[in-house]
Amino acid sequence: CLQNVDKLLLRGIGTNVVSAQAEATRKEETDEKVGHRSFYAVQVERQEQAERSVLISCPFRVNEKRFHKYLLNHGDINKFFFYESHSVYAVVEFASRESVTSLLEAVAIPIVSDESVVPFKSRLLSLRNLGAVESPNQPVKQCQPQTTIPINELIQRLSKEESIDQQINSLTEAYQLTEENSRLRFLVCSLLKDIAAAYFPECTIKPFGSSVNGFGKLGCDLDMFLDLGGISGYSVKRPKSGLSLEYGMKRANSERAVTQSILSVIGECVEQFGAGCVGVQKILNARCPLVRFAHQPSGFQCDLTSNNRVAMKSTELLYLYGELDPRVRYLVFTVRCWARTHGITSSIPGAWITNFSLTLMVLFFLQRRSPPIIPTLDYLRDLAGPADKNVIEGNDCTFVSDFSKIQVESNKETLEQLLFEFFEFYATFPFSRMSINIRKGKEQNKPERTPLHIQNPFETSLNVSKNVNSTQLERFVALCQESSWLFQQSETNTRRCNGTPIPWGLATLLLPSQVAGIKSRRKRKREPATERIKSLLESLKNKKLAT
Ligand code: GTP
Ligand code: MG
Repeated sequence: CLQNVDKLLLRGIGTNVVSAQAEATRKEETDEKVGHRSFYAVQVERQEQAERSVLISCPFRVNEKRFHKYLLNHGDINKFFFYESHSVYAVVEFASRESVTSLLEAVAIPIVSDESVVPFKSRLLSLRNLGAVESPNQPVKQCQPQTTIPINELIQRLSKEESIDQQINSLTEAYQLTEENSRLRFLVCSLLKDIAAAYFPECTIKPFGSSVNGFGKLGCDLDMFLDLGGISGYSVKRPKSGLSLEYGMKRANSERAVTQSILSVIGECVEQFGAGCVGVQKILNARCPLVRFAHQPSGFQCDLTSNNRVAMKSTELLYLYGELDPRVRYLVFTVRCWARTHGITSSIPGAWITNFSLTLMVLFFLQRRSPPIIPTLDYLRDLAGPADKNVIEGNDCTFVSDFSKIQVESNKETLEQLLFEFFEFYATFPFSRMSINIRKGKEQNKPERTPLHIQNPFETSLNVSKNVNSTQLERFVALCQESSWLFQQSETNTRRCNGTPIPWGLATLLLPSQVAGIKSRRKRKREPATERIKSLLESLKNKKLAT
């Protein structure tokens, strides 16, 4: 019965696979000597794993051992796990790509009586009627979590910890992406790449943003970048023969117009053929054109962009900062969680501070410590070697990739001290006059009159927080003041009432705030409705616009 492969219904097949191994191996060797893995090396490894993987929708009751044994008929398995989204899914990573081919050769195309199916093959499969594998008495035991615990549960968990440093640790553990969730993100990119490869066989689809910068929280969106790499013309060397490829003949007025037309076609394919992709919207007139959709099997909200290489560099920079000192990630997770709990950030686009801006604020604060915990971007640029040189559309995006060259000063501050100092720092920051600038690691005079000015690290004439209005900035400052005050009042360790731990330390800072709510309500009354609608429309337009 286990050999009865015809029962595994098929929804599609992955095709081309690209790997840029040589460069990665060289970089990896250097980085691993100093205990760090470069951003690039991690990406390539994950992409390669994803290409050897399939995603299988399963019934709720599956005999895991038999299923595993059945899959072994196609080759060795490196990783096998279940998770629950709309239904139960299994991620299977084979040791070799041939196993995927073998499995796909054996699956059947579904026959649906009252509908017709688009015969577009993918690596998203579904397990049906596989005799001994289905087991009426055995629900899948170990489903890997794909979302964070609710805030109340987090507060309870933190209240049991013995110190604020442990609370910060515990929050990060609960929120950060798991190994399995990371793999699933790369797998979704790889499935998408199979669709885009119908037009651009050599393309890759890479995750960027918080999925890979080290600051991602379970449940965060999946930002993807369609990379045409060597075929896009950016990195093609001059042909010695004088021949140029015919595809170069098709031209558009601007790079933006090319990006729009590529995304329009790919968006159409995702809509028509993308298994599990629903609610596809082509937002091509945004400053950074994108295709947005939900990938149902993974539960990820996806944003697909192209020609967005600066965002990829920002992602790599944030990753590097996160790797330089563990306190960076701990603090970013804590501040992001605190901000989300109090509505400083939001999942809806608007005049709110974004997670990206908030992360830059944390980085800037860490550069301002004495001695600094992380170096300035200018210092990282000065350390760069010839291979690191990178200029994108006239913007200098160069910074060092070899971690061993970076000297970090010895700052021994605890997480508790740093969190408190973060609130103090921004409670009194001269926002009206000064701009936050991680390139210089020092506040600069504000070049424009927006309430909050955070210089875009690579496109230096731009402000990443130009969407933020004064109400939102005031709320942020008021909350920093309140939190720094609460910090000073808080108990120094766990207390219990009838055996139940009472919220203390960081847990207190996550309880509903008085000050922020009152301030925002009062302000909202004063602001004319038209202004609010205008600012909402403006920010909807600007959402995701790499400023
Ligand atoms: P989440 O809120 O967890 O999704 O954080 P994120 O860092 O992924 O943010 P988001 O999805 O909004 O954006 C993805 C990436 O795009 C960021 O990590 C940045 O690299 C880049 N990005 C986002 N907003 C801006 C911006 O305003 N300006 C610039 N230059 N880049 C941005
Ligand atoms: Mg994101």
